[in-house]
Amino acid sequence: MNQQREKFSSRLGFILISAGCAIGLGNVWKFPYVTGKYGGAAFVLIYILFLVLLGIPILVTELSVGRASQRSVAMSMDVLEQKGTKWHYFKYFAMAGNYLLMMFYTTVAGWMLYYFIQMASGGFGGLDQDGVANIFGSMLENPALMAGFMIEVVLIGFGICSRGLQKGVEKITKVMMVLLLLLMVVLAVRSAVLEGGEEGLRFYLTPDFSALKENGILEVLFAALGQAFFTLSIGMGAIAIFGSYIDRSRSLTGEAVFITLLDTSVALMSGLIIFPACFAYGINPGAGPSLIFITLPNVFNAMPGGRLWGSLFFLFMCFAALSTVIAVFQNIISFGTDLTNASRKKVVFINLVAIILLSLPCVLGFNLLSGIQPLGAGSTVLDFEDFIVSNNILPLGSVVYVLFCSMKMGWGWDNFMAEANSGKGLRFPKSIRFYIQWILPLVVLFVFVMGYKSLFF
Ligand code: PFF
Ligand code: NA
Repeated sequence: MNQQREKFSSRLGFILISAGCAIGLGNVWKFPYVTGKYGGAAFVLIYILFLVLLGIPILVTELSVGRASQRSVAMSMDVLEQKGTKWHYFKYFAMAGNYLLMMFYTTVAGWMLYYFIQMASGGFGGLDQDGVANIFGSMLENPALMAGFMIEVVLIGFGICSRGLQKGVEKITKVMMVLLLLLMVVLAVRSAVLEGGEEGLRFYLTPDFSALKENGILEVLFAALGQAFFTLSIGMGAIAIFGSYIDRSRSLTGEAVFITLLDTSVALMSGLIIFPACFAYGINPGAGPSLIFITLPNVFNAMPGGRLWGSLFFLFMCFAALSTVIAVFQNIISFGTDLTNASRKKVVFINLVAIILLSLPCVLGFNLLSGIQPLGAGSTVLDFEDFIVSNNILPLGSVVYVLFCSMKMGWGWDNFMAEANSGKGLRFPKSIRFYIQWILPLVVLFVFVMGYKSLFF
């Protein structure tokens, strides 16, 4: 079966590519609009708290399962579980999550690609706020245009995957992550000094806890939980697969902290770019999924050399989105090759077609199917699919990973600790077993149940 598993060529390669799976649309597209919707700085504080208290330990458990089993989520629990237990059924839940994520992620990645081309060809030149918003609006009204870009994303993603891990994925991801990080610093500085932007910095950086009351604290907690898990890619085996590609020279806690730091700095920086610009151009920070697309072109228009900077920005965003898409495709391909006898080629082809078809409802949800508003007035298919993944599959899947690693009837605490701690670097503290096994899962389940109550009842 997996006699000769590919390995990453370097530690930097591993870190950057795992960060590549974590860093994506969640940081630059979703983080700003969720933060905008839930009131700014107070939300950001809760989000960071969840990252540290819940996200990092979960990330360690998931990486450990991947590294110890040397398998993707398709087979990892089969290899590690106690004889006679049923943990391995988790793969179907995880698999559903991977597909559902791609069902809307490819569409938004397609928006980035469209914006790159618009920007590079000067399509935003000289437009004011309304002109920019119109470009986004007409894109949403055009199913063929959006489907075209979505399909391109799927083709490029599978194209890179089929070139293999080191040649394709690692090389490309490494370069683009570094460039993205540098570019974001430049843009954050530029946006922070926009005239009229101070109000935005205040919104983003000075916590106003009355904003929590306005939205209902339980709903805010639920949203922050979803966003924290989404941004780290935890709960459905997407990051575990990277654990299976590395050797035991480094402890996994150190790696998890590093990935979280990289991911968080990109998210926080994109807030620094977006919020001053929102206030400078009179755009409502609660605008939802359109937020960065109606805000950013204005920033570039007002900047010397803005067309070049803007093109670079959207190009790198395409890369960031693609590196996440590639990671999830790797997972999806290994479901296929590990669970059936089909050749890799055949699995790639079937999934390529399947994901294009499965992504159509999200595309059509903005035009032909806009009458379908599953989460209440004004909501879209995208919102619904995102909700199922971020607020259901990821929290529940994360609880499964944590219990699997801490319970005797799972993989077991001692095995988990030995795996997490083998190699140089930060140790996973022994003393927090009770926290990991009981408190952490209960906190996640509490926020989940109360979040549902506040949203629907
Ligand atoms: N972490 C990715 C992002 O921030 O864009 C999204 C994601 C990838 C979520 C993989 C979940 C996952 F399994
Ligand atoms: Na992320």
